[in-house]
Amino acid sequence: MVMLKYVFPALVAVGSVSASCSVSATTTLQNAGDAAALTTCSTFSGSIAIATSTSDNIAINGVEEITGGLDCTGAPNITQIGADSLQKIGDDFTLNNVQTLQTLSFPQLSQVGSIDWQGLPNLATLMMDTEIQDTDSLNIQNTFLSSLQGINLKRCNTFILANNRMLQDVTLQLQNVTGAITFESNGNRLSVDFPNLKSAQNITFRNVPAISIPSLASVNGSLSFIENDGLQNISCPNLTRLDQSLSINTNSALKSFSFPQLQTVKGAVNVENNTALGSISFPKLTTIFGAFDAYGNFSKVSLPAISDVRGAFNIQSSKDISSDCSTFSNEQGPNDVIKGDYQCAGSQTRPGDANTTPSGTSSSGGSSGKTGAAGHIEIPATALTGVLGVLAAMVGML
Ligand SMILES: *[C@@H]1O[C@H](CO)[C@@H](O)[C@H](O)[C@H]1NC(C)=O
Ligand SMILES: *[C@@H]1O[C@H](CO)[C@@H](O)[C@H](O)[C@H]1NC(C)=O
Ligand SMILES: *[C@@H]1O[C@H](CO)[C@@H](O)[C@H](O)[C@H]1NC(C)=O
Ligand SMILES: *[C@@H]1O[C@H](CO)[C@@H](O)[C@H](O)[C@H]1NC(C)=O
Ligand SMILES: *[C@@H]1O[C@H](CO)[C@@H](O)[C@H](O)[C@H]1NC(C)=O
Ligand SMILES: *[C@@H]1O[C@H](CO)[C@@H](O)[C@H](O)[C@H]1NC(C)=O
Ligand SMILES: *[C@@H]1O[C@H](CO)[C@@H](O)[C@H](O)[C@H]1NC(C)=O
Ligand SMILES: *[C@@H]1O[C@H](CO)[C@@H](O)[C@H](O)[C@H]1NC(C)=O
Repeated sequence: MVMLKYVFPALVAVGSVSASCSVSATTTLQNAGDAAALTTCSTFSGSIAIATSTSDNIAINGVEEITGGLDCTGAPNITQIGADSLQKIGDDFTLNNVQTLQTLSFPQLSQVGSIDWQGLPNLATLMMDTEIQDTDSLNIQNTFLSSLQGINLKRCNTFILANNRMLQDVTLQLQNVTGAITFESNGNRLSVDFPNLKSAQNITFRNVPAISIPSLASVNGSLSFIENDGLQNISCPNLTRLDQSLSINTNSALKSFSFPQLQTVKGAVNVENNTALGSISFPKLTTIFGAFDAYGNFSKVSLPAISDVRGAFNIQSSKDISSDCSTFSNEQGPNDVIKGDYQCAGSQTRPGDANTTPSGTSSSGGSSGKTGAAGHIEIPATALTGVLGVLAAMVGML
């Protein structure tokens, strides 16, 4: 057993003068008494860990700042952790595999180096009245939280929420996120609202049935909407630029999407296997540096502004898309708009099923469909315009 080895501030223990306590590395609190003994340490210099052996309620009251981290990992019987005056944790706030934890009471906490909470199946609410507003990264997984009330971030560089099955509402005022935003498997009632989000490095939505990102203007990386069952529409009214790929794949209820300002995608555009999606339209999209790859049950594909597709171009639908295919076949050829391998095929019995993605295409960006499959282009006999398109491509290459 590690002994408590903080330096007790004997000189200032009496009276109201605030204390300063420091430890060389990490102090491990064995029980409630060890936590209570820190009460005169307004600033605790060092890190605090909570022993796995205790089942006490841990109240680190009086401490206003912990310069290092606060860590509780693997304690099987702790139900409550709190700190009534704590405003700032300098490093990681780690709660990992604390199966019985129910109450997290940090009414004054506003600033945390990073938040890493995982494996807290009994944590349903946060008692954080001041709300955490500033952190470098947030990673919350496998909790019982139904909302993020208590966390109201103004700054965060990396954001991951996964496997929080009860989560229903995430509303954050974040504006610019320099790292990735990732949502995955948070149950089927989640509504995500980022009213002020302007930019992020990467954004991935999986299993999110309602998404609002009205201000998003640029993504310095990829933007992916994958397997969001229940998601009926995607609206990105202000997005103009994507520096890597756009993926809209396997969203079974998706009826429409709207990217009215999107002009440039510096990676691939994948719109794959969205069973209920009837049309695909990017009204201002001019340039795709990578491939354009779409398959599904749509009857319309509209790219009226397109002037440069550098990767492959592959459209397959179960519906008749011959009039759009004839538009695209007129635009393809090595010196034309669509420069890579080309296929446009309607009336397919199983769109996307054939080994049809032309070789040399890259469709990076979290595609879950059959993209990037190397090989030849298979043209079914029914896809007349597709055959003509490929013939046109061959003629163009001579
Ligand atoms: C946790 O509680 C259980 C049941 O009361 C007990 O058997 C076990 O020894 C406790 N574990 C620790 C580390 O205190
Ligand atoms: C976010 O980025 C935009 C555009 O670069 C900028 O105008 C805005 O001030 C930034 N917001 C914050 C909070 O940094
Ligand atoms: C969309 O962008 C325009 C022009 O930059 C801006 O005036 C408007 O406020 C933005 N809309 C939202 C919802 O952020
Ligand atoms: C995103 O921006 C950062 C700096 O803001 C830069 O280092 C990085 O290369 C950019 N990534 C892409 C894919 O453009
Ligand atoms: C998007 O779908 C939601 C229901 O999921 C609906 O309330 C909203 O009106 C739809 N918006 C658009 C633009 O279709
Ligand atoms: C097309 O629609 C049928 C019937 O709804 C569905 O079974 C099939 O998966 C859809 N195909 C694609 C690629 O979305
Ligand atoms: C952004 O997403 C792409 C594609 O999914 C991935 O390759 C890349 O590593 C991600 N970058 C970050 C910073 O998450
Ligand atoms: C296509 O979508 C259907 C229905 O949403 C799903 O069952 C199937 O696994 C998806 N296929 C691929 C290749 O993602």
